[in-house]
Amino acid sequence: MAELTTTAQAGALARPTLEVFRYDDRIVRHFTLATILWGFVGMLVGVIIALQLPFPEANLGPYLSFGRLRPLHTNAVIFAFAGNAIFAAIYYSTQRLCKARMFSDWMSRFHFWGWQGIIVAAAITLPLGLTTSKEYAELEWPIDIAITVVWVVFAVNFFGTLYKRREQHMYVALWFYIATIVTVAVLHLGNSMAVPASWFNSYPIYRGVQDALVQWWYGHNAVAFFLTTPFLGLMYYFLPKAAERPVFSYRLSIIHFWSLVFIYIWAGPHHLNYTAVPEWAATLGMVFSVMLWMPSWGGMINGLFTLRGAWHKLRDSVVLKMFVVGITFYGMSTFEGPMLSVKTVNALSHYTDWNIAHVHSGALGWNGFMTFGMIYWLVPRLWKRELWSQKMANAHFWIGTIGILLYVLAMYTSGITQGLMWRAFDDTGRLLYPDFMETVIQIKPMYWVRLIGGTMYLGGVVLLMVNVWQTIRRAPKDLPDPAVAVPAASSTSAKDIPVA
Ligand code: HEM
Ligand code: HEM
Repeated sequence: MAELTTTAQAGALARPTLEVFRYDDRIVRHFTLATILWGFVGMLVGVIIALQLPFPEANLGPYLSFGRLRPLHTNAVIFAFAGNAIFAAIYYSTQRLCKARMFSDWMSRFHFWGWQGIIVAAAITLPLGLTTSKEYAELEWPIDIAITVVWVVFAVNFFGTLYKRREQHMYVALWFYIATIVTVAVLHLGNSMAVPASWFNSYPIYRGVQDALVQWWYGHNAVAFFLTTPFLGLMYYFLPKAAERPVFSYRLSIIHFWSLVFIYIWAGPHHLNYTAVPEWAATLGMVFSVMLWMPSWGGMINGLFTLRGAWHKLRDSVVLKMFVVGITFYGMSTFEGPMLSVKTVNALSHYTDWNIAHVHSGALGWNGFMTFGMIYWLVPRLWKRELWSQKMANAHFWIGTIGILLYVLAMYTSGITQGLMWRAFDDTGRLLYPDFMETVIQIKPMYWVRLIGGTMYLGGVVLLMVNVWQTIRRAPKDLPDPAVAVPAASSTSAKDIPVA
């Protein structure tokens, strides 16, 4: 990493000494491309499993059956698509917020290639049926160890950058990143504790109800600290940039941060209502989940209000359109989540497609659209070329939005139908629909609608791929890392002085 101190030019003695350094944008380009690639793969698998449910003939042999491909889908979209997206966001914004290049180029590259290697390992082992069978933590112990190593390198690189930062103030996005890095490490270590039996098999050290509690402490907080906190950091950095407006309330963002991280960690037992988990634990999970509504909406309001006075910009900015829909879906899924945790509601929703609707309104709306918005903002800056086609980006926005709506509306209908049919009794107190197939037949049309919605959403990702590819093709061949000069002694809010 070239970091040099230049004295003022001859004849300009009054000028302060400038320190010139370069941001590492290559690593951000790597993570951005990986996001797009894995997004396509993960969602293609999503479309395939969406087809396999109403059309079982599409289950091809054991390796490509629903049971094997479902965890491949969840791992690919969460850890490969959303994962690479948050790393792109973190590597881009942390450097700018700290006014420093990443701590170590070597570590950045190790993180990138290590993470892609883990994804490939997942893509091979999951179709082979090698799994711990713990949801969102299916990968076997050797891969778990690799995840730990890569995560530690990422953490050292990130905290090293914080340590050598030139900007004293730590903007709220950085706090969300810190919470992500620390908590994901704790969750991964806590839930992956297992005794290896062979290279491809292990047994968790927890048993029965403890195992379930630890698993859903992990599962719920994977949603919280992988699909929520880093995306909130992303929102707090990229939204004001794209809107060219300061964040609505900085004070609210701090309250939002501390209340969210404190409350989220307790809510896991809401996944285990009406199970062997003690009643008090489930109630505790429910209470904390309901409390979570407040900070979540604090974040949503802070995001949407940042656009005050800038709403007209939405007409021309696909980035802002994506962000607004993304934040709105965040608001909807974080209203729905607390509601689902209430035991009486959960009695209807649990085990039904209502969950799948909830998951995908968060995943497609919040995670997907925040990622797409960020990519459309980043690509012209990273490749120094205007986006190839604004029209195509707008088409992506619309096809994606309609796709989400079709997906979630179909799943709400299906989920409520399932819930109501399963608990319907006749006058004698017997189940009205004792045959499971009766519900399956009812919801089958909804599965076709979901498939159409999912395919449209994937179609939007294909448009993104073409647009980004055409932009990159036209980009200059030589893309030097951007150089920035700051007054050397300054460790306070020095303004960037871009140099050639
Ligand atoms: C084209 C887009 C997508 C399609 C067609 C799709 C389809 C599906 C299908 C069919 C399932 C299985 C549902 C079941 O078992 O009944 C599923 C599960 C899941 N998907 Fe997606 N998906 C898509 C995108 C995403 C994205 C972008 C994410 C996350 C960022 C995501 C996260 C999940 C999760 C977490 C589950 C498991 C839900 C649960 O166990 O309750 N999906 N998806
Ligand atoms: C205030 C925030 C939220 C709360 C309180 C909450 C609560 C819940 C509840 C009660 C369930 C159903 C558990 C069950 O019956 O099995 C659930 C499932 C789920 N939620 Fe949320 N949710 C929130 C936000 C989100 C967001 C923003 C996302 C995605 C980005 C998300 C992703 C999921 C996933 C993936 C599942 C399915 C887990 C599984 O069974 O595999 N949630 N959530």
